[in-house]
Amino acid sequence: MSEKEEREEELREAVEAPTKQLDSSFAINCGGQSITSSDGIVFENENETLGAASYYVTDTQKWAVSNVGMFVDSKNAEYTRNTLSTFTNTLDTELFQSARLSPGSLRYYGLGLENGNYSVKLLFGERDFANSPTFSSVGRRAFDIYVQGNLVFKDFNIKKEAGGSSFKAVQKVFEARVVENFLEIHLFWAGKGTCCVPVAGYYGPSISAISVTPDFTPTVSNRPPTLASTKKTSLIVGVVVSVGVVSIISITAIYILRRWKRLNTKEDEELLTIGSRPDTFRYGELRAATDNFSPANKLGEGGFGPVYKGVLPDNKVVAIKQLSLASHQGKSQFITEIATISAVQHRNLVKLYGCCIEGDKRLLVYEYLENKSLDQALFGKNNLHLNWSTRYEICLGTARGLAYLHEESRVRIVHRDVKASNILLDAVLNPKISDFGLAKLYDDKMTHISTRVAGTIGYLAPEYAMLGHLTEKVDVFGFGVVALEILSGKPNSYLSMNEEKIYLLERVWQFNSVIA
Ligand SMILES: Nc1ncnc2c1ncn2[C@@H]1O[C@H](COP(=O)(O)OP(=O)(O)O)[C@@H](O)[C@H]1O
Ligand SMILES: *[C@@H]1O[C@H](CO)[C@@H](O)[C@H](O)[C@H]1NC(C)=O
Ligand SMILES: *[C@@H]1O[C@H](CO)[C@@H](O)[C@H](O)[C@H]1NC(C)=O
Ligand SMILES: *[C@@H]1O[C@H](CO)[C@@H](O)[C@H](O)[C@H]1NC(C)=O
Ligand SMILES: *[C@@H]1O[C@H](CO)[C@@H](O)[C@H](O)[C@H]1NC(C)=O
Ligand SMILES: [Mg+2]
Repeated sequence: MSEKEEREEELREAVEAPTKQLDSSFAINCGGQSITSSDGIVFENENETLGAASYYVTDTQKWAVSNVGMFVDSKNAEYTRNTLSTFTNTLDTELFQSARLSPGSLRYYGLGLENGNYSVKLLFGERDFANSPTFSSVGRRAFDIYVQGNLVFKDFNIKKEAGGSSFKAVQKVFEARVVENFLEIHLFWAGKGTCCVPVAGYYGPSISAISVTPDFTPTVSNRPPTLASTKKTSLIVGVVVSVGVVSIISITAIYILRRWKRLNTKEDEELLTIGSRPDTFRYGELRAATDNFSPANKLGEGGFGPVYKGVLPDNKVVAIKQLSLASHQGKSQFITEIATISAVQHRNLVKLYGCCIEGDKRLLVYEYLENKSLDQALFGKNNLHLNWSTRYEICLGTARGLAYLHEESRVRIVHRDVKASNILLDAVLNPKISDFGLAKLYDDKMTHISTRVAGTIGYLAPEYAMLGHLTEKVDVFGFGVVALEILSGKPNSYLSMNEEKIYLLERVWQFNSVIA
């Protein structure tokens, strides 16, 4: 294979690999086995053993559950509860016989949902407090329900909602808007209700089942829940074989056609023949979008090159990063970044729309974030006067983005350059981390020694700067410095009156020793 072909192959894989299939509905039998309800909905099993701080993601990456909280006062902590009692007010009593419990925060996530409005149906049934007037019946459970981060029900009390009855099904439907293929249902114990009736540890969120359905006509074919069918195997084999043969023939035909076409097209256009995917752009298109890369559209310039604001023909506003040839960025590094960034998507990470490779030119097209970077918001001209609650949310969102990079995404990534200018703010000041693909992938098999130190002075973890030890702790250090900047409203390094450079971390360290 020639070098060009190799590059093309790599890029093709990189661009195609991350396409994850979207869904438009899901249903979960919380804390229990898979059940098909009377109206034909398949509730998937959710019977994993969850602990005080743990999560579970389905094999299909369709949904996930996480729990945070420990039953400190209860010896035999149980995060699920089962009963054989019958529940009234429902045709599907089995759905209510199992339930998921949490002493703190219980979250369910829909992953890879088609964007649009959804109905989120939550099913509850109290089982812990008896109906007969006994000591056990005085127990009260109360928790808050958040959908997509919005408080939709404060002090939700299952028994009260059921008209004062336990073992009676309660159904609540909330509307949710999915804009980033992501849904979050959060049940939170805000310390209300009783703690120790009938015994210690009977408090916090409890939920029996969840069903999420679209309010629109989906354009994606839902992945079926994992159900094995043996009867249809022969039919499936037949279909698969014939589909396979047809695909091989057409792939070969396309390949030959492309070869033939390539001989007739200019060399520079080679990569574009990969297909007119929405995520590959022509250089001319980007030049037009940025008014010939006019200085007026320049957003800033970092170590890799200038960044311009652009408007695509479909009126989408984008940020275009022009990678300077002088930078160390080689083509394979570039391809790695495309693969990484498009695979890794999270609401606290900047989205990569696409790229452009033409000749020596390499550009990345990102979503544009109208409130720019955090350093500008905190110290710059467009001082946004961030209040405390916003600052807190920025810290939290950034931490979520980092946690995703480190632990939750398919590939583990150490950012290596966490700093205020790499945290961008969207229209509602939700923080998004940028430039995370520019660092190398975190490779498990490699030692923790990296040859080249990437990052920015002042944010570099000492063990990384001095010894080259690279772990995700490097980003935690950088995050700490950003948190100090957010708290103090002072940049990481600034000049004192007598022109001496002062580092924020040092200052804080001194305060610390005064207090200690
Ligand atoms: N997607 C984006 N939306 C809006 N502004 C951006 C975007 N990406 C980068 N910028 C702006 O461009 C500047 C330069 O970015 P960059 O080249 O990554 O350098 P650095 O992060 O070192 O400042 C940033 O400080 C930021 O203000
Ligand atoms: C969960 O239920 C499935 C069947 O629905 C079963 O195969 C599996 O072993 C159960 N897992 C646990 C941890 O109990
Ligand atoms: C979705 O819901 C929001 C309100 O939550 C509404 O403004 C919007 O118009 C709805 N979209 C559609 C397509 O119905
Ligand atoms: C974000 O920036 C836009 C445009 O500069 C401005 O109109 C808007 O008020 C800002 N948002 C917030 C929450 O400050
Ligand atoms: C903080 O600022 C945000 C956005 O600017 C605003 O929505 C919120 O109400 C403010 N909160 C307080 C407590 O002032
Ligand atoms: Mg940056």
